[in-house]
Amino acid sequence: MQWRTGSELRKLFLDFWISKGSKLYPSFSLVPDDPTLLFTIAGMVPFKMYYLGIKQPDHPTAVTSQKCVRTNDIDNVGRTARHHTFFEMLGNFAWGDYFKKEAITWAWEFLTEWVGLDPNRMYATIYLDDEEAFHVWNKIVGLPAERIYRFGEDENYWFMGNTGPCGPCSEIMYDQGPEFSCGKPTCDVGCSCDRYLEIWNLVFTQYDRQEDGSLKPLPKKNIDTGMGLERLTSLVQNVRSDFETDLFRPLIDHACEIAGVEYGSDARSDLAVRVIADHARSLAFMIADGILPSNEGQGYVLRRLLRRAVRYGRLIGLDKPFLCEFLPIIIRIMGDPYSELMEQQLTIEQVIHLEENKFSHTLEQGTNLLDMEISRLKKQNNETLDGDIAFTLYDTYGFPLELTTEICDESGIL
Ligand code: GLY
Repeated sequence: MQWRTGSELRKLFLDFWISKGSKLYPSFSLVPDDPTLLFTIAGMVPFKMYYLGIKQPDHPTAVTSQKCVRTNDIDNVGRTARHHTFFEMLGNFAWGDYFKKEAITWAWEFLTEWVGLDPNRMYATIYLDDEEAFHVWNKIVGLPAERIYRFGEDENYWFMGNTGPCGPCSEIMYDQGPEFSCGKPTCDVGCSCDRYLEIWNLVFTQYDRQEDGSLKPLPKKNIDTGMGLERLTSLVQNVRSDFETDLFRPLIDHACEIAGVEYGSDARSDLAVRVIADHARSLAFMIADGILPSNEGQGYVLRRLLRRAVRYGRLIGLDKPFLCEFLPIIIRIMGDPYSELMEQQLTIEQVIHLEENKFSHTLEQGTNLLDMEISRLKKQNNETLDGDIAFTLYDTYGFPLELTTEICDESGIL
């Protein structure tokens, strides 16, 4: 397989789908035009109206590399090789045009012929009784039946949110080899460890979930797919974690350099530099899309990420503002195609600078207060932090509640 940069893989994906007749859209904003969501969490979000049949697309198929933010797994960011708050989702979409046969066979063609992944290491998962998907994988692609796994709703049904477009899905998994396994005797496709890596989710979007949970059939059969660029890049670059790809590594290296730590030598500092690298990307892209720190909505998430990154910086000795330094590196890695980063560079710097300075002043005092309180609770064998302390930390020292909870968790306090 040919080594490629993350940027080259993004372009390869877009070119592939353009060659199949898809219309190329630049990434849409991280702030969706949709009151049911805080952020664009997937490539299909900007096209919701086409799925619901409320608007008609001027072309029935599309391709994007979409900027996404997801914070539901924030506690795992930096702890695993794969979780991020900001990531790019490669996706192809069809509304009443190609369906399962093309979505599956073309995805296979892209991964095996264009990217060069080893077909013998690939598996597919399908929704329980999706015989059509089974037929395509088995009879058209030629994947042996024992490499096609059937899973239920938790694994193989994708929902945009509590309401909205959804449908059964088929995932493509890649066996990274026994050295990536958790070692449990049950480790197999579907295990949450890194051995069988989920690379691409193909959703057959046929329903609109209603408030009451019922599924209303959509007017057309649609396709929505999502593949994380960072994850694909890690496979192609043959590295163990997304953070070691060229999309992240310069950020990790810079964090290590300014903190004077060596990556790979200490689990705590590795975690800190990964969190900083992840959050620095989110901050840059969120501010470039017009989000400003505040106490609610998207602005609260921005504030929370920034303050979390500052605290992780303190843990590795970064006691002067440092977050702005990551911006030129992010621009070098992703300024093409994301020209908004350069256009908004000054604003991004100003917003980060102001917010970081503000929090830097109270972080130490707040941390001292919380450390004292945690020691006191431990001496008393008490595991619960007083709500008044959490409120003082929020109100006086600017600690988002989630940050207080996270610090308490680290010490076994609730
Ligand atoms: N919309 C498909 C996915 O996020 O996996």
